[in-house]
Amino acid sequence: MLGDHDVVNRREVPVLPLQRNEIVSESRIAQIIERARRAADEQSGVARQGHLFADLEKTLRETDRSKRVEFFQHEGENGEPWKNKLICGDSLHVMESLLHYENLRGKVQMIYLDPPYGITYDSNFQQRVDSTKNEEKDAADDVLTIKAFRDTWTLGIHSYLSYLQERLYLCRELLGDSGSIFLQMGDENAHITRTLLDEVFGAANFVSEVIFYKTSGKGAAGLDSVFDRLLWYAKDKPSLKYRQLYMPRPQHTLQEQYTLVELPDGTVRRISDKENDGSTALPTGARRFMPGDLSSQGESDEGSEPFEFEGVNYSLPPNTHWKTGLEGRKRLAAKRRLYPVGKRLRYKRYADDFPLAPYTNIWDDTVISGFGAAKLYAVQTSPKVVERCILMTTDPGDLVFDPTCGSGTTAACAELTGRRWVTCDTSRVAVNVSRQRLVSAVLPHYRTRNGKVSGSFLFRSVAHVTLKSLAYDLEPEKIDLVDQPEVDKDAVRVCGPFEVTSLGRYSVEDWKGYVVREPGIGEATKLENYIEVICRLYRKDAAIQGATGLVHAVAETEKEKIAISVGPLSGRVTGKQINDAVQDALASGILEVHVLGWAFEANVGEVKSQLEKRGKVKVELIMIRPDTLAEGLKATQPEMLFSPLALPDIEVAAAQNGKEKQLRVTLKGVALFDRKRRTTEYKAADSGYVSAWYLDEDYDGDCFVDCQMFFDFKKTPNIKAALRAEVDPEEFTLKLDSELFPLRGYKRIAVKVVDVYGNESVVVRDLG
Ligand SMILES: C[S@@+](CC[C@H](N)C(=O)[O-])C[C@H]1O[C@@H](n2cnc3c(N)ncnc32)[C@H](O)[C@@H]1O
Repeated sequence: MLGDHDVVNRREVPVLPLQRNEIVSESRIAQIIERARRAADEQSGVARQGHLFADLEKTLRETDRSKRVEFFQHEGENGEPWKNKLICGDSLHVMESLLHYENLRGKVQMIYLDPPYGITYDSNFQQRVDSTKNEEKDAADDVLTIKAFRDTWTLGIHSYLSYLQERLYLCRELLGDSGSIFLQMGDENAHITRTLLDEVFGAANFVSEVIFYKTSGKGAAGLDSVFDRLLWYAKDKPSLKYRQLYMPRPQHTLQEQYTLVELPDGTVRRISDKENDGSTALPTGARRFMPGDLSSQGESDEGSEPFEFEGVNYSLPPNTHWKTGLEGRKRLAAKRRLYPVGKRLRYKRYADDFPLAPYTNIWDDTVISGFGAAKLYAVQTSPKVVERCILMTTDPGDLVFDPTCGSGTTAACAELTGRRWVTCDTSRVAVNVSRQRLVSAVLPHYRTRNGKVSGSFLFRSVAHVTLKSLAYDLEPEKIDLVDQPEVDKDAVRVCGPFEVTSLGRYSVEDWKGYVVREPGIGEATKLENYIEVICRLYRKDAAIQGATGLVHAVAETEKEKIAISVGPLSGRVTGKQINDAVQDALASGILEVHVLGWAFEANVGEVKSQLEKRGKVKVELIMIRPDTLAEGLKATQPEMLFSPLALPDIEVAAAQNGKEKQLRVTLKGVALFDRKRRTTEYKAADSGYVSAWYLDEDYDGDCFVDCQMFFDFKKTPNIKAALRAEVDPEEFTLKLDSELFPLRGYKRIAVKVVDVYGNESVVVRDLG
């Protein structure tokens, strides 16, 4: 194996803890269930936010009240309950954090990695939460995004491979000894990435290369490319955890191998061509079989003696012995299993002795559109593929990690199959699509062996009649079908608790920029100041030398001066940073401050409005695109990289609910900054700009808990698909009034808005 993780030329990136931004807790799940039940009772589905849980409501409506609603919970270390994790952040930082703060070194059983394929970038990025294809109105945005994405890899395949290599080394550290990694790849780069995997994991740990159908063909010129590949490596192949999966025996195996039929009267004949191709049915009661070999390698005195059957003495080929002893052969004869072929004696292996066959490395049942399901994400993987990988290499309760979450296929499949999961993505669109997909899932509930998921499920099993079971009169072996757990029909299941996190609190250290270390040289040789890069990208006229304190640069034209402050690389912009930047700007006589960041703390909207109320200063909060600093980014248009943070505008009103006085929140709209016109624009909540909003009824000031959720269903293709003909999707416009709720302990609420670009912003309101 070539290099070790430590000696490879790597950028040193800050190692940051995860910061919980939001939890979908047990009580939250209980609320979901309760609301869905209420909506189901009301029949009409009047409670609009219930529509997210349309499937659940439908299930509850169609079954009697005794149906339980369950979710799986897992134990973590030290008896603490484990929480699955949806993380917004670059996989490189996230993996460092999982290793150093979350104690997950060697704890991951399977990694599913589906990175951008490194060639056709345009198929790998989705700009808006609600568009899976280039709709006309979004065409301009998409073109810009695609260009920015493609430009990320200035050194072409070299940039791409080093991007992957860094991450693969970290994947290896996360995997346990019996663990597996699957790298999903397109045709173009599969050969190069396989070499990379050989280097990182060792060629001896190569397990298989699977090809699976991704499309049924597009009618392209020449040969259509219809499959993608999975490159499967073990952390340590001799210790690999592998669970055999079976499929119905393929037709071609039957046709090639099971070419004889035994009729009910015991006569045997060759199968006809028409029977073999299925155009004529077999006679009733006929059984297909193939002649099975009764000999094994190696000669022995007794075990190689000729055997008499129906008056004929059958001998064995040289250097072989009978697979079963004399008694066994007699039993086979009594069961009419023996079948001479020429001079040799064989036994009848009926097709129905075991009607299944192990999977091979060609998967031809995986085309996603074949399921009639709308895709959530432009580059979504077929759940069948991911599910199969999970089932082959993990047991219930094992931990699965996907550093390229996308629409959350791996998390959804892990949830379905009772595995624990962690997943991350740099894209806020991806994180939001995934969250939505998870919380709205309705899953079958599986029976467990001992009440614990990690104690495994009860599986459907199939009898496997073998030569041994026949010869020794044994009960046929029961083969557990680990992809067919027994379903508890008295219950339905929803997604278990999970937390949504980003990379955590930061220190001044984070403003230092990346250190690039050359191989073999101990000292840092290059210090790139990312703040300079961002300021220049944002405003070409920004003068970096004008920096004082948290004003990192000043942009100056004839008419005006703007102070620019940039948030930390992997953390959130805090209210304090905004405050400090404004004070520093005012001290230099500058009245306009733009604070740029990759993420913002919840209270920044309040801080901004207080500062603006207090003085003459104008504050703009600007989101930086996640991949803006990707290594080797070519100079690119600022409009592609920066977008204003849209701040929710809400109204809280008291209302009487029976005897109790309760509260109701109304989303009025969002305020956002128009960079071209340099004005703050206001978008009404129903203007199509808001994709979803969430309410935390009792915000603790730290971690956002989704107590109520509202989606614009017209913009949510999966919900449309789920509802199909049942209801008119036009009815489902974004609900702007919350349900009534009581004032609780913290006397503080928070509202989070997700816009159609996947940007999140939060506003906090103290109600004390
Ligand atoms: C091909 S998609 C994955 C799709 C996913 N398999 C699914 O079924 O939806 C690749 C994803 O990787 C994300 N990505 C790219 N570079 C990343 C990085 N450095 N860290 C985390 N995520 C990244 C992209 O935002 C994109 O969502």
